[in-house]
Amino acid sequence: MRTLYCGELTGAEIGKTVNLFGWVDRRRDHGGVIFLDLRDRSGIVQIVSDPERTPDSYETAEKMRNEYVVQITGRVSRRPEESLNSKLPTGEVEIYADEIKLLNGLGKQLPFQVSTAENEPVREELRLKYRYLDLRRDRMSRNLQLRHQTIKAIRRFLEDDEKFIEVETPILTRSTPEGARDYLVPSRVNEGEWFALPQSPQLFKQLLMVSGFDRYYQIARCFRDEDLRADRQPEFTQLDMEMSFMSQEEILELNEKLVAHIFKQVKGIDLPLPLPRLTYAEAMDRYGSDKPDTRFGMELVDVSDLMKDSGFKVFSGAIASGGIVKVLPIPGGNDAVSNVRIKPGGDLFKEASEAGAKGLAYIRVKDGGKIDTIGAIKDNLSEAQKQELLDRTGAQPGHLLLFGAGDAGTVNKTLDRLRLVIGQQLGLIDKDKINLLWVTDFPMFEWNQDEKRLEALHHPFTAPHPEDVGELKTARAQAYDLVFNGYEIGGGSLRIYQREIQEKVFEAIGLSAEEAYSKFGFLLEAFEYGTPPHGGIAYGLDRFVMLLAGEESIRDTIAFPKTQQARCLLANAPSAVDKKQLKELHVASTVKEKK
Ligand code: AMO
Repeated sequence: MRTLYCGELTGAEIGKTVNLFGWVDRRRDHGGVIFLDLRDRSGIVQIVSDPERTPDSYETAEKMRNEYVVQITGRVSRRPEESLNSKLPTGEVEIYADEIKLLNGLGKQLPFQVSTAENEPVREELRLKYRYLDLRRDRMSRNLQLRHQTIKAIRRFLEDDEKFIEVETPILTRSTPEGARDYLVPSRVNEGEWFALPQSPQLFKQLLMVSGFDRYYQIARCFRDEDLRADRQPEFTQLDMEMSFMSQEEILELNEKLVAHIFKQVKGIDLPLPLPRLTYAEAMDRYGSDKPDTRFGMELVDVSDLMKDSGFKVFSGAIASGGIVKVLPIPGGNDAVSNVRIKPGGDLFKEASEAGAKGLAYIRVKDGGKIDTIGAIKDNLSEAQKQELLDRTGAQPGHLLLFGAGDAGTVNKTLDRLRLVIGQQLGLIDKDKINLLWVTDFPMFEWNQDEKRLEALHHPFTAPHPEDVGELKTARAQAYDLVFNGYEIGGGSLRIYQREIQEKVFEAIGLSAEEAYSKFGFLLEAFEYGTPPHGGIAYGLDRFVMLLAGEESIRDTIAFPKTQQARCLLANAPSAVDKKQLKELHVASTVKEKK
């Protein structure tokens, strides 16, 4: 039996004989004395063997190689003064090995070094292919343990303090209204019919409210076939919650307590509550984003009114056709950002054009607050306009002002992107800062340009703001997102529970009663049998843990993630299947077989 994990050995164990299991992290031969770092998931401890003090283990110690699996029995001693290591949690002790038992060696050469002492970066492809080895390494081992601690804190808080119960919902189900592409599973038994994997447990959790479960949560696996990014996986985990008889205010308050509990348990940090809030309109106005990174300033300034009569056609024209003009003020931007970068071919120009902008007008503020305009803006701003521009943006000598002009969506997207890229480059983002905030009052709908119709921004069961029910098309929703350092880590809403309002919402998004019933009929029918007012939220658990761990990709917080191409390199999935299997499933492939 194991006495302790390697990482748990402290001065308190000195003098005891312990039995440890683990992997040889590395072996060092110091002329007659052999040191082994023994590693398990908890950390590392130093094992010593020499021919005089531990003759029985010495011969085996000599044969040890990295990643051999061993059992070690030995006496815990205090390290000699000169080799105390305060950086290592177990650095006060070492273990004289009475016995080293080799449990297993290696059959193949390691594809990369696993040792904690190695800092060589390993290609992600290789890490994913040999994920089981990657997970042995310190960084990933810590990340998974942090994930575990986070989930544990969540469960303790929700179950023990707040009376939530966990209920599992189906994985084989029908399409949910989250709006991404579905993963489909053909039914063998029901010829020609398909299950969809859930994009979220949305419909089922609402049904659980109808059933009276009142406070539900689930650590729920969700599936969305969408374009992948560092913070998106095709299969990811939500902390999913739904509550009855609570106002939006009460839901937010409970969730703040939950988040503070997680921070305290996992990071030992006291999160000041209540969390700040921005309405969607404010967030878009000041940051051009509904998930603003508020760790730094550089807020956008709307100057549409100032520019509407300017002789600069790009500005006045944009406003005349219903658009806006906004400024991104960049302190020190005169020195830090060259013209080359802003003009066609430059990196910032590229960022802007990827966001849909046609170009970037700019102004540099020179010494003495003199404005140095360029090109076409030059002769088209009056002295009064220039002064007003300086006043509104708070620009000082050295400031660079970047302009976005056009439809509001493109302008905001462009300046948001530039703000993040430049803020990062100027070192304005303090990596140690923790900024959490609620964004509230999202609009109910957004315009889908391709389909020329309104679309529910959150999902079609989100309740409109009571004040806005009269004019649904422009109504605000009782919906909220939680933003953590510029990432959306959670989102939810109060739900519609009255039939008339639900029907109006379907109408607004152009969903006929028939279509609505064919898609969500079971939910709508359930709502006829006594539905409590309810609402909920779901957190992207992988994202939350990524931020807690200080990582930049959710792949580093998931044990076995997919690549950006939605493949599992370890199991080599997806893969072709037998023709026989397809036939049984009544499925024929349209893909031409490779010769
Ligand atoms: P939503 O679609 O906003 O809401 O999702 C909730 C949270 O899940 C995370 N998330 C993802 N994480 C990783 N990979 C993905 N592909 C991915 N997509 C989303 C985000 C997001 O904030 N049913 C509603 C919630 C509700 O209304 O209660 C829902 O799923 O962090």
